[in-house]
Amino acid sequence: MEIKHHFSLKEHNTFGIAALSKAYTAPSSLQQLKEALGYYYNQDVFLLGGGSNMLLLNDIEKPVIHVLLKGITITETNGDLVLIQVMAGEDWHEFVLYCMDNNLAGLENLSLIPGNVGTSPIQNIGAYGVELKDTFYSCDVIDLKTLEEKTLSLADCQFGYRDSIFKNEALGKYVITSVTFKLQNLNKNNDYQFKTSYGAIKEELHRLQGNFTIQKISQAVIQIRKSKLPDPKKIGNSGSFFKNPVIERTQYENLIKTHPDIPFYKVDEGHVKIPAGWLIDQSGFKGKRFGDAGVHDKQALVLVNYGSATGKEILEVAQHVQKAVYHRYGIRIDTEVNLIDE
Ligand code: EPU
Repeated sequence: MEIKHHFSLKEHNTFGIAALSKAYTAPSSLQQLKEALGYYYNQDVFLLGGGSNMLLLNDIEKPVIHVLLKGITITETNGDLVLIQVMAGEDWHEFVLYCMDNNLAGLENLSLIPGNVGTSPIQNIGAYGVELKDTFYSCDVIDLKTLEEKTLSLADCQFGYRDSIFKNEALGKYVITSVTFKLQNLNKNNDYQFKTSYGAIKEELHRLQGNFTIQKISQAVIQIRKSKLPDPKKIGNSGSFFKNPVIERTQYENLIKTHPDIPFYKVDEGHVKIPAGWLIDQSGFKGKRFGDAGVHDKQALVLVNYGSATGKEILEVAQHVQKAVYHRYGIRIDTEVNLIDE
């Protein structure tokens, strides 16, 4: 097992924050991961995946285990259904492209989401009308206390909007080693329901013309995301920095008296969700830059690092935005990105 000391994590978090790790190891097989967990048994470790949903506020004092397990295996086929097990360190988008190449349907709307497969269940990644939970079958984990291996089912994971058991009662309890998805093999099925209700997808598909295919939907999503969201390889970011707030319907009805154009999505009879991007945009922050930290100019929900911003500088911008939105609309917007201060 190789341990690197004072190792820079700049290349390993999509925000590009130059935090250091005191001790860093990167297991690429289940065996190596178990060895690392055994080595650090009884110590708090910091588990790193694709680094796409976190803001590093300081250097990391805990030993960092960078989970880089690789492998994709079809474990079961039943008619047009395929169970496919993907090791945690596989890149999410590359896995989606693998599915497109093999005509496996279910994840096309989730194209180009940064990060690794192993961390995708934690926040139940979602985009364009689809969430991870829609095709999730199970995941394998190792309990960090007992080192016992377990399989968690869909029900066990308690998925919600950008939420799961891994953010609540199982926070810090497990390392996810693989995720199994239940996909449809379109070579054996031709009545698959494409998920194209999301307005922007419809428009983009119209432009691409012809019949719907999952490959076209994937291309449409890639186009939309490229036009709105910054590429983390060029400008550091973590996608949506904030969650879309859910508010009481009565508060919404009061707000439309003064802000009649406020967009909303119905959640249930008593609640609506308001796009945080709109609230931030209307509060005047879109495209605003404070040193190397700022708010993206095409999507106000995304905070960006133009080069050498520190995590704390990004956090200051976030807090500034939260205060302004609260002041203007009386709505608190919570961070979606995990703030890491270990
Ligand atoms: N809007 C603005 N100004 C902005 C941004 C958005 O007015 O700067 C308005 C838009 O015009 C639209 C509404 O806000 O009316 C919603 O915007 P959009 O459709 O772009 O989606 P979103 O709610 O901002 C969510 C997810 C994204 C996901 C998209 C597409 C959250 C927090 N974010 O964004 O997820 O890609 O829907 O499904 O739920 C991510 O999690 O990293 C992410 C990018």
